[in-house]
Amino acid sequence: MSRLIVISNRVSRPSKSGNQGGLAVALSQALRESRGMWIGWSGEVTDNFTGHIGFSEDDGVKTATIDLEEQDVDEYYNGYANKTLWPLFHFRIDLAEYARDFEGGYNRVNQRFADTAAPLIEPEDVIWVHDYHMIPLGQMLRDRGHRNRMGFFLHIPWPPTRLLVSLPHHTKLVSTLFAYDVVGFHTEEWLESFRHYVEKEMGGSVDGDFVTVGDRTIQAVACPIGINAREFAEAAVSDAARDMYEQIRASLQERAMIVGVDRLDYSKGLEERFNGYARFLKDNPDQHRKVLLTQIAPPSRGEVESYQQIRATLDALAGRINGEYSDVDWTPIRYVNQGYPRDKLAGIYRSARIGLVTPLRDGMNLVAKEYVAAQNPDDPGVLILSRFAGAAMQLKDALLINPYSPEEMSDAILRALAMPLDERKRRWRAMMNSVEGQDISWWRQSFTERLMAVERDTARVE
Ligand code: G6P
Repeated sequence: MSRLIVISNRVSRPSKSGNQGGLAVALSQALRESRGMWIGWSGEVTDNFTGHIGFSEDDGVKTATIDLEEQDVDEYYNGYANKTLWPLFHFRIDLAEYARDFEGGYNRVNQRFADTAAPLIEPEDVIWVHDYHMIPLGQMLRDRGHRNRMGFFLHIPWPPTRLLVSLPHHTKLVSTLFAYDVVGFHTEEWLESFRHYVEKEMGGSVDGDFVTVGDRTIQAVACPIGINAREFAEAAVSDAARDMYEQIRASLQERAMIVGVDRLDYSKGLEERFNGYARFLKDNPDQHRKVLLTQIAPPSRGEVESYQQIRATLDALAGRINGEYSDVDWTPIRYVNQGYPRDKLAGIYRSARIGLVTPLRDGMNLVAKEYVAAQNPDDPGVLILSRFAGAAMQLKDALLINPYSPEEMSDAILRALAMPLDERKRRWRAMMNSVEGQDISWWRQSFTERLMAVERDTARVE
C-alpha cells in the first residue's frame, strides 16, 4: 500500500478527547492505515524562520510541522490566503486586497512547505494537498523532481471567471493546478466554473473529467465532502450531549430554539441572518416569547480587518435587536462567541427546533450535515439552508432559501415552526440518507481511489 502524505496549512493532530474535525478524523484514519504523514504549519510564530521540522506521532498518525515567522503569517496567512483569495473565491471582490507583498509571501511560504516536504517524500507516496493556502505547492514539488501521484482539493468555492480575472497573475496561479493529477471540488458548480476559466482564459479543453491545457491533462472532479455521520449521531446521545440538551431545554421553558453555528466570518451571512430573524420578529408579533435564536460564532482570523468589522457589526446588530424586542424575561438572540467540543455541540443541535444555515457562499458547509445527523429521528428539527452553500446540492429536502432575502428567511422560519411531524420526519429521513451515504469515508475513498488509479508514469515532471 502506498503511503498517503497530506499537506495543508492546518495540521490536525488526533486528540484523546475526540474533539477534532471531520477532515482530521477521515484523513487520520487513512494516514494511520498507510503509515503516512501530515505536513503543515505548527500554528507557531518565531522571530526568524529556521526551517526546523517538528516531528510527532500521536495515536499512530505522524505529523511534521514547521513554525513560520511573523512576516510569513502577515503576507501568506493573513495576507494572500485570507485577504486576497478567501474573499475573492467567496465572490467578495469588494473585500479582496491585491498586494505584491502578499503574493510574494504566499510563494515564499509555499516554497518553504515544498522544502520541508521534499526530503520526506518517497517515490511511491501519494500526495494530497488541501485548500487555497497551498495551490502552487504541487508545482513546486514537481520542480524539485517529484514524480509522485499528486492530488489537490479545494474546500472553498471556485469563483466565476469574470471575478477571478480581477486577481493579478490569475493565470499563473491557476496553471500551477496542472501540476497535480487530480483536482477536486465539492460541487459541480465550482467544477463548472473552473472548467469555464480553463477554456476561456487558458485556451484549454474539457473532455468529461479530463481537462487539458497545452500538453498536460489532469482530472477535475466534483466530490462532496461529508461528515462521520454515524459517530456524530452517536455523539448526539452521549452523556455530554444529553447534559447540554437538558441544560438548554430547561432554559428554554417550552420555547422553540433556532440555532446557528459558524466561524465568525462574513461569508457565513450572519448579518443577513440576524436581519432575517429581526424581520421574522417584526412580521410575527404573536411569535414573540415563543422562539429564540442561539447563534454560536467563535471569532476567527481576528488580525484581518474585514473580520474585525463583521464582529463589530454583529455585536451592534445583536444588541440592537435584543434592545428592541427583549422583555424582562425573554431575550430573542443568545449570541455566543465561543466554540464547543463535538459532543456538546451535538446536544445543542439536537435541542434546536430549527437549524439556520445561511452562508452567502460556502464551498460545502458541514454544520448543515451535522445538524441533520444530530436530530432525534422520532422528533427531528427542520433545516433552513442557503441555496448558495455547496451542501444545498445534496440536502434538497431542507427549506432552501436565498439568504439575501429577509422575507424568505422570515417565511421559512414561520413555516419550519409550524411544520407537522410527518413532514419533518420525511424531510429528515431524505437528508439523513444523503448524509449517511456520502459520508466522510465515502469522500476520502472516492478521491483517493481516483488518485491511486492514476498511472505514476503519467505524473510527469514538467
Ligand atoms: C475553512 C477553510 C479551511 C480552514 C478553516 C478554518 O474551512 O477551508 O482551510 O482551515 O476554514 O480557518 P483557519 O483560518 O482558522 O484555518
